[in-house]
Amino acid sequence: MAVLGSSSSCRSVAVVAAVLVLVLVMSGADLCNGGKTSTFVRKVEKAEDMPLDSDVFRVPPGYNAPQQVHIIQGDHVGKGMIVSWVTLDEPGSSVVLYWSENSEHKKTATGKIYTYKFYNYTSGSIHHCTLNSLMYNTKYYYEVGIGHTVRQFWFITPPEVGPDVPHTFGLIGDLGQSFDSNLTLTHYEHNPQKGQTVLFVGDLSYADQYNDSARWDSWGRFVERSVAYQPWIWTAGNHEIDFAPELGENKPFKQFTHRYHVPYRASNSTAPFWYSIKRASAYIIVLSSYSAYGKYTPQYQWLEQELKKVDRNETPWLIVMMHSPWYNSYNYHYMEGETMRVMFEPWFVNYKVDVVFAGHVHAYERSERVSNIAYNVVNGLCVPIRDHSAPVYITIGDGGNIEGLATNMTEPQPKYSAYREASFGHAMFDIKNRTHAYYNWHRNHDGYAVEADSMWFFNRIWHPVDDSTSV
Ligand SMILES: [Fe+2]
Repeated sequence: MAVLGSSSSCRSVAVVAAVLVLVLVMSGADLCNGGKTSTFVRKVEKAEDMPLDSDVFRVPPGYNAPQQVHIIQGDHVGKGMIVSWVTLDEPGSSVVLYWSENSEHKKTATGKIYTYKFYNYTSGSIHHCTLNSLMYNTKYYYEVGIGHTVRQFWFITPPEVGPDVPHTFGLIGDLGQSFDSNLTLTHYEHNPQKGQTVLFVGDLSYADQYNDSARWDSWGRFVERSVAYQPWIWTAGNHEIDFAPELGENKPFKQFTHRYHVPYRASNSTAPFWYSIKRASAYIIVLSSYSAYGKYTPQYQWLEQELKKVDRNETPWLIVMMHSPWYNSYNYHYMEGETMRVMFEPWFVNYKVDVVFAGHVHAYERSERVSNIAYNVVNGLCVPIRDHSAPVYITIGDGGNIEGLATNMTEPQPKYSAYREASFGHAMFDIKNRTHAYYNWHRNHDGYAVEADSMWFFNRIWHPVDDSTSV
């Protein structure tokens, strides 16, 4: 028996060795093909929306109490803030009372009220009020509502724009209102890196999944716990389009634009779908995958002028947000971003954009610095190549909405793809100074402080050395 046992052990060792060799060969093959496809195994399940009576959707108590409170930077440099909220019973007061910490002097600003109808839904009163001439790097308290239903919140304005000003951006996309969405938001809130501003890459409420606009209201109540206290910078996604001629709704983005204002006029944009802001040491350009971007179109002309305005001595970090990714190796929305890539990618390389954040694909992916701009119809040069002047492309559409995960990937992993994984989560882009930013991605299955993917970004102007992470 001992001999047999020993022989069996030998066989086991041989099998283990063979498996190890196979694993090594396969990892070698992985390196040859591209970066890393995570081996993290999660239980694949369809995301399920939280029921409307969930506590996260609770209506604040009191007649006509302000709900769905949210803020966004209200000017180009961070001295303004747009405060928005909804009242459902009657229009009520559109006044915001606000004061800085350590100040007794309370100021007021009066906003405007907007309403809209969408098919058989009539919105509540949507208030938008811009606070101007705020001091930099200052904590402000603000109140909305009257009488017994006054609600108080606070925010901290960003520091004055400058080349070495640190700032921590959270990255969330395609959030929706499922149980997984709630996990994503909770993980972002508990991330010890403490995000100061969210860059949201589109697809907010997924109310269009129901044809129920009340799901815009529930989403507004769900995210209030974060967006009432720090700005979320909005990008329009396909779920914001709401183009429904069969319902008599022919004007795209009606619900999104009534509910979520952005400071587009401050960057000379003519529409709220493409705009820019400066924040700390970053210049952030938001683009619309679902607005015209061909030559001579308003978005094209705006971006052409906008890129010339970016002064990397003032804002070293040039960040672009859009919804549909240009470099995506999942079998979902494959090549949907291709036409916009063809139009704008040469500019991104020329102006040395540091990073591009997109969503749409419900998974996570990070590219190496690559470009694919040599093709001219006859030369056949249509393969992405490593390019140190090119941005890193990050897909962060893994917020956890009802549509579930994108689990199916193109194989083999393309060379441009550095890391990909089909898990829900969020990311952080933590700017340290003009040369370095630390980026990491967190999956919802881990503890709050655990990072599943990370990279040190070296600024393309101030420290343009190789920061690639795979062979
Ligand atoms: Fe999308």
